[in-house]
Amino acid sequence: MDSKKDFQKLEHIKREIRLHNHRYYVLNDPLISDLEYDQLMIEIREIEYKNPEWISSDSPTQRIDTKISEKFSKVEHIVPILSLANAFDANGLRAWYERILKIDERVFNASYSVEPKLDGLTVVLQYEKGVFVQGATRGNGIIGEDITTNLRTLKSIPLRIPLNPEGPKPPASLYVRGEVFIDLEDFAKLNNMLEEEGKKVYQTPRNTAAGALRQLDPKITATRPLRILVYTILQSSDSLPLTQENRLGYLKELGFPVPEDIVFADELEEVVYQCENWIEKRNHLAFEIDGAVVKLNEINIFDDLGVTGKDPRGAIAFKFPAQEVTTKLNDIGVKVGRTGVLTPYAILEPVEIGGVIVSQATLHNFDFISDKDIRVGDRVRIKRAGDVIPYVMGPILDARSGDELIYIEPTECPGCSGQVRRDEGEVALYCQNPECPEKIIRKIAHFVSRQTLDIVGFGIKIVEVLVKEKLIKEVSDIYKLKRDEIIELEGFAEKKVDNLLSSIEASKTQNLGKLIFALGIKGVGEVASND
Ligand code: IVH
Repeated sequence: MDSKKDFQKLEHIKREIRLHNHRYYVLNDPLISDLEYDQLMIEIREIEYKNPEWISSDSPTQRIDTKISEKFSKVEHIVPILSLANAFDANGLRAWYERILKIDERVFNASYSVEPKLDGLTVVLQYEKGVFVQGATRGNGIIGEDITTNLRTLKSIPLRIPLNPEGPKPPASLYVRGEVFIDLEDFAKLNNMLEEEGKKVYQTPRNTAAGALRQLDPKITATRPLRILVYTILQSSDSLPLTQENRLGYLKELGFPVPEDIVFADELEEVVYQCENWIEKRNHLAFEIDGAVVKLNEINIFDDLGVTGKDPRGAIAFKFPAQEVTTKLNDIGVKVGRTGVLTPYAILEPVEIGGVIVSQATLHNFDFISDKDIRVGDRVRIKRAGDVIPYVMGPILDARSGDELIYIEPTECPGCSGQVRRDEGEVALYCQNPECPEKIIRKIAHFVSRQTLDIVGFGIKIVEVLVKEKLIKEVSDIYKLKRDEIIELEGFAEKKVDNLLSSIEASKTQNLGKLIFALGIKGVGEVASND
């Protein structure tokens, strides 16, 4: 492409980016996916890389896009907290390699670390004489916010290093960088708890972690299951190992949690293979990742390559294909929880996300439907992360035909047609009927589940049959079940009944904390039960 065309293209993309920024940040109604947006940014960066004289102050690549809040005190970072350029496929990685090889021929013999790209929030931790003295958010990369008190609540952050007295002697001063996030299972548990309590649930693990870190009250932060993994040494007063591999080992010896599963490769095609391998591995991880990060293992080459804008040349993020799609919302269903809380869910035109066919998705609560103005018949955006249930992000307003129907909250329980009620200050609707069979089924299922009394072989299907046959009306009835009554039911062979009865018997020896939690008392979770 000739230079004039390149310039015109640059100006054109800049205009587009401005439009999309406005849709995203101001209107909260994006027209394109994050991935398509990233692609546009890449194109700009590529043109600007080739023609640095065209970089103007109004370019989106020059924008400081993170607002600094007034609520926490500001911290000037010891070094700029850089971000990463992206590659979206194997060829993107190869192009990156060619670029850096041209700059430094040592790249030819270099090796690489291939790391999970954690989808959390960057933090910087400062240690003086081995003591954790300050923790900060990334902010705009130059100035962040002091969130020391909140970070102190994370049990995985060592307050003193080395954690093990036999470990290496700590440097007089050390700055490390890591990512704070929430495990998918903890996220689901937290939302279940909030849902049962009729409170607003969070939409993603990432925004839950972000909210928790920026809490002005560290006590609230402490109740959130935040984790950290540390992956970079920003600065140290001591001399450091010369490779990323050995630095990660050193961090580990000091007692920092570092990502497991990091692989090292000796040539680019091995890197490509490992990055593609992560696409499959991501589904089995405890937390969300949105890509892999490739870094030159030899720190001297990495450092000598320098930065372009805010991105170090010696590293690149390999972004996964999006786990976000759009599909039609065919209907909205309602399920009844064990406390009687009614929760809406989306019934979707089946659609594939990351190799899985999805036909249902979480809608969080009824306020979410009205806040986002989600209508039956809408085209909606769906996201799926790891093994968690996919969720609806919102409607695509521009795709409306006018035939969509505004959703009306149920006035009766879908399980028993009983009355429903909404408590002051809560977002949830509750079924008021104590004999609602759906409610009883959920209550019993909770009582026998793995996290509570762990009655092996007492699955949801069995609960449903026993409740529908009226053999169980409340939890204590479990202990009155008789062999002859059950054996008459369809699908209950002798062996199955005997196993069930003996695991019911065994559950009598479970500890008191499990029993209290199993009772499902409102506001009394696993921790309170054990206390
Ligand atoms: S290295 C100069 N390594 O991804 C080093 N970043 O899109 C730059 N991230 O802002 C960062 N996991 O918040 C690095 N293993 C990892 C990472 C990682 C997640 C985040 C980080 C960064 C963003 C870049």
